[in-house]
Amino acid sequence: MRRTHMAGELRPAHAGQRVTLAGWVHRSRDHGGVIFVDLRDRAGIVQVVFHPQTSEEAFRIAETLRAEDVVYVTGTVQMRPPEMVNPKLATGEVEVFAEAVEVLNRSRTPPFVIRDEVAAGEELRLKYRYLDLRRPRMQRNLHLRHRTVKFIRDWLDARGFWEIETPILIKSTPEGARDFLVPSRLQPGKFYALPQSPQQLKQLLMVAGIDRYFQIARCFRDEDLRGDRQPEFTQLDMEMAFVDEEDVIGVNEALMVDLVRAVVPHKRIQQVPFPRLSYAEALERYGSDKPDLRFGLELVDLGHVWHQTDFRVFRAVLAEGGQVKGIRAPGLARYSRKQIDELEKLVRQWGAHGLAWVKVQEGGELQGSVARFLADGARAAFLEATQAEPGDLVLMVAGEGALVADVLGRLRLELGDRLGLRDPDVLAFAWIVDFPLFEWNEDEGRWDAMHHPFTSPKDEDLERLETDPGQVRAKAYDLVANGWELAGGSIRIHRRDVQQKVFELLNISPERAQERFGHMLEAFEYGAPPHGGIAWGLDRVVMVFADEPNIREVIAFPKTASGVDLMTGAPSEVDPEQLAELYIRVVLPEEEKATSEP
Ligand code: AMO
Repeated sequence: MRRTHMAGELRPAHAGQRVTLAGWVHRSRDHGGVIFVDLRDRAGIVQVVFHPQTSEEAFRIAETLRAEDVVYVTGTVQMRPPEMVNPKLATGEVEVFAEAVEVLNRSRTPPFVIRDEVAAGEELRLKYRYLDLRRPRMQRNLHLRHRTVKFIRDWLDARGFWEIETPILIKSTPEGARDFLVPSRLQPGKFYALPQSPQQLKQLLMVAGIDRYFQIARCFRDEDLRGDRQPEFTQLDMEMAFVDEEDVIGVNEALMVDLVRAVVPHKRIQQVPFPRLSYAEALERYGSDKPDLRFGLELVDLGHVWHQTDFRVFRAVLAEGGQVKGIRAPGLARYSRKQIDELEKLVRQWGAHGLAWVKVQEGGELQGSVARFLADGARAAFLEATQAEPGDLVLMVAGEGALVADVLGRLRLELGDRLGLRDPDVLAFAWIVDFPLFEWNEDEGRWDAMHHPFTSPKDEDLERLETDPGQVRAKAYDLVANGWELAGGSIRIHRRDVQQKVFELLNISPERAQERFGHMLEAFEYGAPPHGGIAWGLDRVVMVFADEPNIREVIAFPKTASGVDLMTGAPSEVDPEQLAELYIRVVLPEEEKATSEP
């Protein structure tokens, strides 16, 4: 290699050494008679000094250098004078006196300046992703992702897990989203589905006696996208034979703790062993099945308080089987009417009818939109239930239970942000357990699998499959942290009779079950070991480690919210011949026909 050192790695220990560096011109400043060039490579930035006395030729070339030109520079590392040390740069104590420079490639003026405080909007960043990825922050994220995956692979290998690839062209395996389909040329009119996860394949690997499997697996789901969702994303997928819930939870907790210590040692894990919450408790106390446990601000049920009052609106909600719940926001009695109106606007956007509020004033009197209903016993019960003290603000929402939980769950996070309670250096992991096996699908009038159709019911709830499916709990678990769902898994059904009963409840007829999952049902008849597993959303894990607000920041080439790759322009139209070969004809909706015709 002609390069002797990385620019970002130069330190006082290198002083006096002659080095050759390679990289991009980050910035160039002509100070009349001396030119300073910040040279950037993957390891960082170092200052290069061009002096006509050192080399007239190099100085002349340096005069022509522009941002993002690619160069080789040879020179001698020197200590900077003390008053010139730059404490913001890791290399800030040294600089390189250039003796020679060679321009390898000139750059056009980039559409945005390459630096962490990027001014460009995300669309521009994604269109020129290869420039965006030159930013130190993006390189740090990709490196963190690399180290995370490397650590996981080594850790699991040392514990007897085998990494096995499973196909991308498969038969549909449902995870509750729409499939991406791939037409078959060799089998006209037939389609492969891209895996929403390797779920069935990893279960079949257990039947195959593989015992401990993992894969860094790409998954594809055609669903509405959000900050924590991409149409293709990466899972750490895992499956183990002869295990129960405790075994899977134990392995994954140990891996996560070791991983955090190895790759983000500056982060503190709030509690080990990770606390466990039942699904019902998480919703009741935090209004979410992925609560942020870095702070309290728990939801309080105030039904019994409002029951004793004359406030008709709340009493009507309670009479219809609804709920009234609240959150105590410590110290926020100082909030102005305008600030409370802002919060009310938010909860309305989330679907609530309104936001009721009560301030506890310094003298102890209650003030606010519904304070006058809280007299005598109701007042005492209110203070007792909320534990509100002078200076506090209590915010309340009434309505159907699931809505109240959702709205207050979001309001809780908003208050956590406003009160500065979401410390980025803390990781508050928790296991959510005791999920219901099914959830009722109001639109379709049937049960849906809460996790997926292969999840095992709890042994003690097996009989309820016949009598009361809504009360059956699953052997399922989610790992959450700081308000994100990081992983989810379950112990699987390995008995054909139980699997068939579950399909029945999910309204999957025996014929349809045979057609879609016949291979699974058949496999279970040849000695399937009990087994279970989990999958981590790897993008989300790295996002949380990197303190990024969405997973696009930790994916090299992500897609936009409408599923578009702005850099390559995918998805795009294809040649009519390609479609003909696949026996496919495109029928566009009327509006799009109008816009796509010349
Ligand atoms: P599940 O569907 O819960 O389980 O997915 C596991 C984890 O994958 C992540 N995830 C996503 N990340 C980014 N974009 C998406 N569109 C997306 N969808 C899911 C989440 C989630 O917790 N086969 C089962 C696992 C098992 O039972 O072993 C499964 O895929 O972090």
